[in-house]
Amino acid sequence: MNGFRLPRPIFAPSGGGAASLGPPSAPVWLPLALSDIAGVAAIAAQLHPSLPERAAVLAEKAALFPEGCRKLLADGVMCGYALAHPWRTAVLPALDAFLDGLPAAADCLFIHDVAVLPQARGQGAAASFLLHADAVAMQHNLPVHALIAAYGTVRLWRRFGFAPLEGEQHVVELAAYGPQAVYMSRAVANGPAAG
Ligand SMILES: CC(C)(COP(=O)(O)OP(=O)(O)OC[C@H]1O[C@@H](n2cnc3c(N)ncnc32)[C@H](O)[C@@H]1OP(=O)(O)O)[C@@H](O)C(=O)NCCC(=O)NCCS
Repeated sequence: MNGFRLPRPIFAPSGGGAASLGPPSAPVWLPLALSDIAGVAAIAAQLHPSLPERAAVLAEKAALFPEGCRKLLADGVMCGYALAHPWRTAVLPALDAFLDGLPAAADCLFIHDVAVLPQARGQGAAASFLLHADAVAMQHNLPVHALIAAYGTVRLWRRFGFAPLEGEQHVVELAAYGPQAVYMSRAVANGPAAG
């Protein structure tokens, strides 16, 4: 199976009544198929109501760069997703807009979104996806991860080694991602040196 499991089970075993069913299986990141996009859009609508994106825009990312796109499954049910694609450092993709292809001279893996439903959080899903992102970036000779930290998630991403990009602040483009948005980047673990 082309997926990897998180370090701990997502839900504690029930301790009695459902013993015959056994403990729920740990959540796992798996490749995202185009047929999964309705599930992605549903989770996005739930977690990002103020930053709506069309399902077709989300689907384009999975079609253009499937290796950067994953779904999080727990007991066969989608409980999260992550979308990433090669891009240019310090260039902010417009929200809810088609990429219309990937840049020939990509120099970063842009993490468009990591979204996990509340009941599946606290299990290291984002950290686990970043391990996958590191591997993908290395395969594609991309030295840097970039993302836009929305909803005050700067502290969360700092813990994973991301830092706000020095220099130009991209105020206009960032505003579309909400008032707290910050563009951040991080060197790919064990990746090629940034140019
Ligand atoms: C971001 C997200 C994927 C992380 O899920 P996760 O990998 O399960 O992460 P956890 O819930 O285990 O959180 C990891 C740590 O970051 C902290 N954290 C989580 N969200 C945070 C936030 N918005 N701001 C600051 N810290 C945050 C947690 O408290 C936790 O700290 P702890 O280990 O001290 O308890 C999940 O919170 C989510 O889907 N949020 C909504 C969508 C979103 O904001 N995505 C990011 C857009 S840039």
